[in-house]
Amino acid sequence: MNVLVLLGSLRAGSTNRALADAAVAHLPEGCTASVFDRGAELPHYSEDLDLEGQLPEVAAELRAAVAAADGLIVVTPEYNGTLSSVVKNTIDWASRPYGVASITGTPAVVMAASGSPRAAEWARQDAVRTLKIAGADVVEDTFGLGSSFEAFAEGRLVDEEADASLRALVGRLAPVHA
Ligand SMILES: Cc1cc2nc3c(=O)[nH]c(=O)nc-3n(C[C@H](O)[C@H](O)[C@H](O)COP(=O)(O)O)c2cc1C
Repeated sequence: MNVLVLLGSLRAGSTNRALADAAVAHLPEGCTASVFDRGAELPHYSEDLDLEGQLPEVAAELRAAVAAADGLIVVTPEYNGTLSSVVKNTIDWASRPYGVASITGTPAVVMAASGSPRAAEWARQDAVRTLKIAGADVVEDTFGLGSSFEAFAEGRLVDEEADASLRALVGRLAPVHA
């Protein structure tokens, strides 16, 4: 199974990146995973740029990566009560061309880390709705990590119960391979 991670934080010390790494570590043996690291290079989506044969190279790379993925792990901070615009723009690019988009039918799970104890609930809700409308086969349940600056030690989630919930969600992306 080949998993693609869409990451919404561009920050060097991102707790969402730490969460993405912890999630990838829970993938069953034999799975491959990579982070799409060019979200900041994607232009804001415009149908004027989305032209056959003239697609921005980074958008073509994204669509190929999504097409090659058997599953998506979408990890986003909450900014002003919704998902990161980086990840939203990435989903918008992956959701076109209409009818033949690479994201159509791709299994996806959503997770989010926030410094607040509310665990980015709105960002997760909005990411699920966006992914669903974009055509992904998204799992309704999500994983939210609150107080994220205190949540990791040596790259692992300190709270074992939270780590078990994360493992369970990742397992829903790769049930056949678990
Ligand atoms: C512009 C901005 C808006 C934010 N809005 C929210 C918010 O609505 N809810 C929330 O829980 N945290 C909010 N935060 C705090 C983020 O949760 C926090 O910066 C988080 O660590 C970002 O994720 P990262 O560690 O992966 O970079 C906001 C931060 C910024 C910079």
